[in-house]
Amino acid sequence: MALYAAAAAVLAGVESRQGSLKGLVYASSFQNVKQLYALVCETQRYSAVLDAVITSAGLLRAEKKLRPHLAKVLVYELLLGRGFKGRGGRWKALLDRHQARLKAELARLKVHRGVSRNEDLLEVGSKPGPASQVPRFVRVNTLKTCSEDAIDYFKRQGFSYQGRASSLEDLGALKGKCFLLDSLLPELLVFPAQTDLHEHPLYQAGHLILQDKASCLPAMLLAPPPGSHVIDACAAPGNKTSHLAALLKNQGKIFAFDLDAKRLASMATLLTRAGVSCCELAEQDFLAVSPSDERYRQVQYILLDPSCSGSGMLTRQLEEPGAGVPSKERLRALAAFQQRVLSHALTFPALQRLVYSTCSLCQEENEDVVQAALQQSSGAFRLAPALPSWPHRGISTFPDAGHCLRASPETTLTGGFFIAVFERVEVPSSVPWAEASAPDLRPSRAPKRKKRRQKAAAAPSTGPDT
Ligand SMILES: C[S@@+](CC[C@H](N)C(=O)[O-])C[C@H]1O[C@@H](n2cnc3c(N)ncnc32)[C@H](O)[C@@H]1O
Repeated sequence: MALYAAAAAVLAGVESRQGSLKGLVYASSFQNVKQLYALVCETQRYSAVLDAVITSAGLLRAEKKLRPHLAKVLVYELLLGRGFKGRGGRWKALLDRHQARLKAELARLKVHRGVSRNEDLLEVGSKPGPASQVPRFVRVNTLKTCSEDAIDYFKRQGFSYQGRASSLEDLGALKGKCFLLDSLLPELLVFPAQTDLHEHPLYQAGHLILQDKASCLPAMLLAPPPGSHVIDACAAPGNKTSHLAALLKNQGKIFAFDLDAKRLASMATLLTRAGVSCCELAEQDFLAVSPSDERYRQVQYILLDPSCSGSGMLTRQLEEPGAGVPSKERLRALAAFQQRVLSHALTFPALQRLVYSTCSLCQEENEDVVQAALQQSSGAFRLAPALPSWPHRGISTFPDAGHCLRASPETTLTGGFFIAVFERVEVPSSVPWAEASAPDLRPSRAPKRKKRRQKAAAAPSTGPDT
């Protein structure tokens, strides 16, 4: 076995806990044990740095045949090790094509962290922060399959299903090829952190959506029943829209708006792949959408996930833990926009419930915006307690702020997030189709076995050969 392939195999074995590094090195068929051991140790030491460089250079997306562990070993050798020195064969040729980009990403990382030597990157890179411990959440797209079929598929692929999680600790303890069903969302599978499923056939076929747990909560809390009309005000790239469509079972209507043509184009691809057929996409400023337009007279549900500083985003926290705090000026501008767009959304005449969410950790974009909108609505709307059992609540800057929900890698093993659920205090008498009772905010139950049988017959094969 060649050196790099052997090192990749040992790395994979260590990560999936098949044995100790030393044991796996000795068990490999590679003759120069010392050389192999040194290469694996060094690659492991720089693991976080290599992950960051490989991800930002888009290496695995561009080179579909290159497996992640081998990529790590090769990129180590190219950027931090001794160079290929006549070794590497076809992989060396492949890496050469990406050399400039990889080197540039390494240089960018150093500038970003204010260091000049590779060694200095280890200070931050070798200590995994809480963001790197967040599990990989995978939402099963119920428009195309069901949780049980997806679970069966992974089991056939050699993954080990551990049942439904009962605590956060269960999620944090996931290792190797083990996976769980989330305790809160019956369509959410949970894999160990760093599991990469971008190349997985079920993802490519739109049966799975790679979506953080916190980002699944807005649609779940909006909970529009099938047949209802929903606005997704700032919708692209569309993960939450596809979740809404799944909750609607493609029955009813989603009016989805976004300003950004590029993001809308990738959203259209995502929705097609996910089998969404109840959504009308519009490249439009939501602030210019008239609440009195006849088309929206039945809209009882609005999801508002506006542009924000993104200070809670995992990718930002992974790049530089604790980074991403926006300037006061930027925060002021963002909060002003968020307030305008939220107040505008609350003027839709049939609106019953609105979920406001951001992936920001800043109070200015969260509790402050919500408080201002409540004041402006003059008592027409109140906050509903969002998942009362959720451990991390809004900052108590006003009486009902605890009804809001926060999320973070440290407290909920998710990305940083904020959610507020607004509900109308009284059903407007002029709207005959409005439901008289408040919709149920509790999480839905796990799917029944019977449904699985029906879906299995209708859905494309989820066997390993798909
Ligand atoms: C946080 S992202 C939305 C993410 C999306 N909800 C999802 O889950 O995939 C915010 C989006 O708002 C869009 N946006 C910003 N201002 C807008 C406006 N005035 N009207 C409509 N969309 C807007 C941005 O282009 C961006 O795509």
